[in-house]
Amino acid sequence: MTLKAEQILANSQFETKKSEKVAALGLIDPMTEAKSKLKGPAHSIRKAVIPAAGLGTRFLPASKTVPKEMLPIVDKPGLLYIMEEIAGAGIEQVVLIAGRGKSAIEDFFDTSYELEDQLVRAGKEDLLQRIHGVKDMVEVISIRQKQAKGLGHAVLCAEPVVGQEPFALLLGDELMITAKNEPTAIGQLCQAHQEQGMSCVAVMEVPLEETSKYGIVAAEESPGGFLRIRSVVEKPRPQEAPSRFALPGRYVFESGIFTHLKSVGAGVNGEIQLTDGMTALAQQEGLLATTLKARRYDAGDRLGYLQANLELALEHPELGPGFRRYLKEFVANNRAMFSSFMFAVLMPLLVLLGALGIGGFSSAAWAYIPEPSMILSRTGLNNGNGFYQLEQDVILPTESEPFILRERWTVRDEHQMRLEVEGRGFLQGIVNMTLVYDSHQRHLVDAEGQVRSSRLSEDWHEPFFHFRRAATLRSLLANLNILPAEDELARDFVRLSRTGGGVTYAFGTPTPVGHFQLLPGLWIEQDQFVIRKLRLPSQVLIQADDYQRFERSLWMPRLRTISWAAGSREAKIQLTAVRALPQNAQNQQLVNPAQLKTQAKEVTPLRMGDYELIRDFYSRFR
Ligand code: UTP
Repeated sequence: MTLKAEQILANSQFETKKSEKVAALGLIDPMTEAKSKLKGPAHSIRKAVIPAAGLGTRFLPASKTVPKEMLPIVDKPGLLYIMEEIAGAGIEQVVLIAGRGKSAIEDFFDTSYELEDQLVRAGKEDLLQRIHGVKDMVEVISIRQKQAKGLGHAVLCAEPVVGQEPFALLLGDELMITAKNEPTAIGQLCQAHQEQGMSCVAVMEVPLEETSKYGIVAAEESPGGFLRIRSVVEKPRPQEAPSRFALPGRYVFESGIFTHLKSVGAGVNGEIQLTDGMTALAQQEGLLATTLKARRYDAGDRLGYLQANLELALEHPELGPGFRRYLKEFVANNRAMFSSFMFAVLMPLLVLLGALGIGGFSSAAWAYIPEPSMILSRTGLNNGNGFYQLEQDVILPTESEPFILRERWTVRDEHQMRLEVEGRGFLQGIVNMTLVYDSHQRHLVDAEGQVRSSRLSEDWHEPFFHFRRAATLRSLLANLNILPAEDELARDFVRLSRTGGGVTYAFGTPTPVGHFQLLPGLWIEQDQFVIRKLRLPSQVLIQADDYQRFERSLWMPRLRTISWAAGSREAKIQLTAVRALPQNAQNQQLVNPAQLKTQAKEVTPLRMGDYELIRDFYSRFR
C-alpha cells in the first residue's frame, strides 16, 4: 500500500492559550467542555481513526456531493459530535478517512479567513469562538480512500499514520451521546482496553429481526462483565445470528488488526470487511466486547438521522425549550395526523406491548411484584382469601426529568391480577394503560380498542423468600460441594435480589439476552435451599432497600432497584402502599380480562426517548 498522510489540516496556527481567552470572554469553549468529560485514570490511546469515505447510498441524493458525516445534526455536522467524543477521551490526533466530497470535510477544519474576518468586524466573538473551538480540539490528518472498498479497507488506509500502536476507531455515521459529566463512549472503551490489555469493542443488544443490519458477535462470557469474541458475522439473517449483540461502531484495536485485514483480503463485492479482520484478530490475539453507557443514533440511516435531530434539538440549551413548546403545540393541533404517524412509524406503546407477547420477549419477562401467597396470608381478608392492592411508582431516570409511572396492582393470586399504569408529571395523560393477568395469560387493550393476549413464561413471577443468614450461605454451599471453593466463588457468585427478607443468589453464567441456549448456572433460593437452573435472560440485577412496615406489619422493601442492559438502564420502584381488599364481586371484576374491553385509551408517547425507555421496561418486566 502506498497511501500516505495527505494533509495536516488543523494545528499550530491557532493559539494555545485559547481557553484563557475564552474564559475572559465568558464563553463556553467546546474544547474545555469536551475535555472536562475525561475521567478516571489515563489510558494509552493517542490516535483515533474515523472512516468517512463510504458511498452513503442510503442518503442519496443528499450524500452525492456532501458526505453524510457532514450533514448537520441540529447545528453542527455529525462528524463534529464524534470529534468532541474523541477530544473528551483525551485523544489528540484524528485520522480521517475521506472519499468523495472530501473538500467539504477539509474546508470545515480549515481556516476560513473571510468568514472569520467578517465575524470579528461584526463583533460576533461567540460565533468566532465556536468555529475556532472545533479546530483546537484535535489535530486532524486526512487520508483519501480512493475507492470505497469497504470498511476494512478504509481502516487499512490509516495504517501509515497509526503505525504500531493501539488506536480507537469510530464510525463516522454513528453518534454516541453521553451525559456531560460521564466519560465519552470511546473514553469508556479506551479505559476498558487499558484495564484488559487487549483489543476491545463496543456491543449493543438489538432485536432479533434487526441482526441483518449489523455485524453480530459470537461470544462467551469473560470475567469483569466482558464478552470474549469468538467470531464476528457480517449482517446475519435472524435465524443465523449467533447472538443479538451487534457492533455499534466503536472499537479500540491493537495494531495487529492491520495484519489481519491484509491477510483476510477482499470478500463479497471486492470489499475488505472489518468483521473478517476482527474474527482473525479474535482467534489469534483475543478480542473483548463490552456494552457502553451511551445513547446511540445511526445517523447514516434516514430514520436514525431524524431521531438524532429531534432528540438532540430537544436537549439543546438554546433551542430545546422553544422546540419542545413547538412540538407540544404541533402534536396538540395535529392529533389525528400525529397519532397516525406514531402508529405508522413508532407504534403506540400499547400496540407494541401487545405484540411483545407474541414476539418473544414474554419468555424473558419477570414481573417484579411480591409473591402473593405470602402477602395474602397477612393482608387478605377471609384468611388470605381476599385481594390485596399495591401502589408503587416506577421511576426511570433520564438525563433530564425522570419518567415517573404510577402503578396500581390489584392481586387475587399470582394467576389473577390487574395492573393499571398512569404517567405522572409531564407523562400525565400520555401514558395510560391497563393489563390483566389471568392463568398465565397477559391481556391488554391496543390503541384500536382490541384486546391482545400473550402467554407468560413459567418463571414470570418474582420469588419472595424468607430470610435467614446470608453471610454463611457461601461457605456452607462450598463445604457441601454444591459450589466451588470459596475463593473461586468471588467472581461468579451474584446476589440477585433481596425481597421481603429473602435473598436469591446466582452462581455460574447467567444467560445473556441473545443467547438461545441457556448457559449453565444455578439459582439458589437461600431459605428453601432449592437449587435449580438459572434463567436470567437479561442479566438483571435487583436490589431492595429501605425496609419498612406496611399494613398488618408486613415488612417490605420500600425501594427496589432493577438494573439491566449491563447497568446502563435502571428503574427504581418505590412502594407507597400495600392494603388488604375484601373478597367481593367488585374486586373479582377488576381481575377479569373481559372488563378490559371498556378500558381502551389512546396512548401517545411524546418523545422517542420516553417511548423507548418505557417500552423497554414494560416489555422486559411486566
Ligand atoms: P456504512 O456501510 O454505514 O457506510 O459504513 P456507507 O457504505 O457509506 O453507507 P450506505 O450503506 O451506502 O448508505 C460505516 C462507516 O464506514 C465508512 C462510512 O463512511 C461509514 O462512516 N466507510 C465504509 C468508509 O470509509 N469506506 C468504505 O469503503 C465503506
